[in-house]
Amino acid sequence: MKGVAVLAKEKTKFVCQNCGYVTSKWLGRCPECESWNSFQEERESPPARSKEGTMLQEPLALVQVTLRQEGRTPVGIDELDRVLGGGLVAGSLVLVGGDPGIGKSTLMLQTTLLLGQGKTPVLYWSGEESVQQIKMRANRLGDIPPSVWIQSETCLDRLPELLQKLKPSCLIVDSIQTVYRSDLTSAPGTVSQVRDITAQLMRIAKQTGLVVFIVGHVTKEGTIAGPKMLEHMVDTVLYFEGDRNHNFRIIRAVKNRFGSTNEIGVFEMAEGGLVEVRNPSAMFLAERPLQDPGSAVTALLEGSRPILAEVQALVSNTNYQNPRRLANGFDHNRMAMLIAILEKRLGYQMGMLDAYINVAGGLRISEPSADLAVVLALASSYRERAVDAQTVAIGEVGLTGELRNVPRLEQRLREAARLGFQRAIVPAGGKLPQVPELQLCVVHNIQEAIAQALKGG
Ligand code: TYD
Ligand code: MG
Repeated sequence: MKGVAVLAKEKTKFVCQNCGYVTSKWLGRCPECESWNSFQEERESPPARSKEGTMLQEPLALVQVTLRQEGRTPVGIDELDRVLGGGLVAGSLVLVGGDPGIGKSTLMLQTTLLLGQGKTPVLYWSGEESVQQIKMRANRLGDIPPSVWIQSETCLDRLPELLQKLKPSCLIVDSIQTVYRSDLTSAPGTVSQVRDITAQLMRIAKQTGLVVFIVGHVTKEGTIAGPKMLEHMVDTVLYFEGDRNHNFRIIRAVKNRFGSTNEIGVFEMAEGGLVEVRNPSAMFLAERPLQDPGSAVTALLEGSRPILAEVQALVSNTNYQNPRRLANGFDHNRMAMLIAILEKRLGYQMGMLDAYINVAGGLRISEPSADLAVVLALASSYRERAVDAQTVAIGEVGLTGELRNVPRLEQRLREAARLGFQRAIVPAGGKLPQVPELQLCVVHNIQEAIAQALKGG
């Protein structure tokens, strides 16, 4: 009993490092977010109450509230400004997540250098690199304007004081997992540190109009440490993705209080940093095989922008008891559904065949409009016949094999025409747009579509 009393004095708690759930004893699995082995012991520290935090404000009659003009400041990188919803909003907090080495620091430093061309200071706070390293990287990225300030330190205690003195318009914290406040006893990167620092930055941002970027590394499971609560706290969450073996990078808004969340920005990692890709369709189709079976092109809509994508499929004899179904860049369950439709409606014998789907260029498709291209790529590989290289295929596939309409067909078709495609297979039933450069091939179901698309029928 005595021992227990001593332990109790120490006051520790166990915090799920994924979602922030708190318990008094260690648990193998978090009852909140169901992740395994995610609890870490943290010493209880009194909740950090800052003066600002306890200030009470009188409620206001809503009619009396006058709107501040929410002006946006473009960063000057179009691909980034688009996902931000048109530029930076004063007082907003943006989380930039992504795998280590994907290019978050590079993008943030490029942003710093551009914003630093203005009169007000911009502060890049790094907990990862020395000032020498930052300077070396900045030198590669471009000219260094005088309004750019850097700090290399992991302890954030002096941050509020520094912000008061410097009065920057933008602060970048790279990365949230490496910095800490000494009034919290837990280690850097733990949920309490991440949460309290983010809350503090949020308060400062809202009070002073400072724009804050927080960089966060994504764990193996694809989440930022303490991700759930972080995503709830901030205004905007951007994910930076891409294949480290390829040079292209895609930035995507998964949450945005100040704009739409479907927009993507496309970059290429080059010698001098990230370069904007103005013509993503051309890039995603660059290495497309024109004569080989198993490749089909579709037109996606990513936010306001149509983008052409190549879907590849490989169907081959299986060596396994259960044939493999692997999808890269496409929903696994949707792939299984489309295969089942091919089996049922066209009598394809897929039971002894492995099937793989890959979306070229590291794109991730979440739109059903790509169904038809997936079906055509699968059929093409199954039948060993190439899809006509000048044809783009657009349409959602229903369970009876029928083709369904997709939104904003005209925009997609114009993009296909712009890239030199001559024919489009589209669902019957909707209103057909007029795109003079493109021959429209209207079909009702996947049988008709396959007959039209595969060379030699
Ligand atoms: P970085 O921005 O450090 O990634 P993160 O902050 O997400 O961990 O990017 C690191 C990679 O980018 C590294 O492998 C080197 C490469 N890189 C270039 O190819 N060109 C450049 O100009 C820079 C600065 C980095
Ligand atoms: Mg970095």
